[in-house]
Amino acid sequence: MKLRVAIGADHGGFALKQELIRRLGDNVTLIDVGAHEFDASDDYPDYVLAVGRAVASGEADRGIMLCGSGVGACVASNKIRGVRAAVCHDTYSAHQGVEHDDLNVLCLGARVIGIEVATELTVAFLMARFTEEERHVRRLEKVIAIEDSMSATPPDLDAGVDVATEDEEESAAESDDEDEDDMDEPAGDDIEEGEIQQSL
Ligand code: RB5
Repeated sequence: MKLRVAIGADHGGFALKQELIRRLGDNVTLIDVGAHEFDASDDYPDYVLAVGRAVASGEADRGIMLCGSGVGACVASNKIRGVRAAVCHDTYSAHQGVEHDDLNVLCLGARVIGIEVATELTVAFLMARFTEEERHVRRLEKVIAIEDSMSATPPDLDAGVDVATEDEEESAAESDDEDEDDMDEPAGDDIEEGEIQQSL
């Protein structure tokens, strides 16, 4: 049976996801959870949840999640019980993470690496298997024990992602403004920050 791989990306990783899907072809059974079209305003946690859900439920054997840096995807993925995610931009980590730590979601940053490196990392990750060696199993059990101690009840994955209410957003914006007032001008203030950041 082919490996079942859930793959997702926000706008930061969308183009790389599409190319990676083409490269993987039918070597694996792909579950593309989206984004299915480029949307500059989409949010990576929505795709993280879909990839994590597929992996945690057993629908997929592995997950690949792409965003701009891989960091947001990784942080959010590790909130899902049963998901062990890491940003791996070197091939050693991409396979050793599986072999020793039973890594099941690979996070990639499309603004950091290109398609050739992404392909090699993906192949290293997908070809690797957990060793089942006693010391690795013992460590994995300790990791799972931490997860168990942190949340007594499994999250309701069907509930989706909770977003802040308008009131919460307003008060957060106000406190952001306050923080800005307290800050000195950062170095490089001649750069038009808005122009650079706007499209990200
Ligand atoms: C989106 O602009 C970007 O923040 C996201 O793709 C990712 O890099 C987060 O870690």
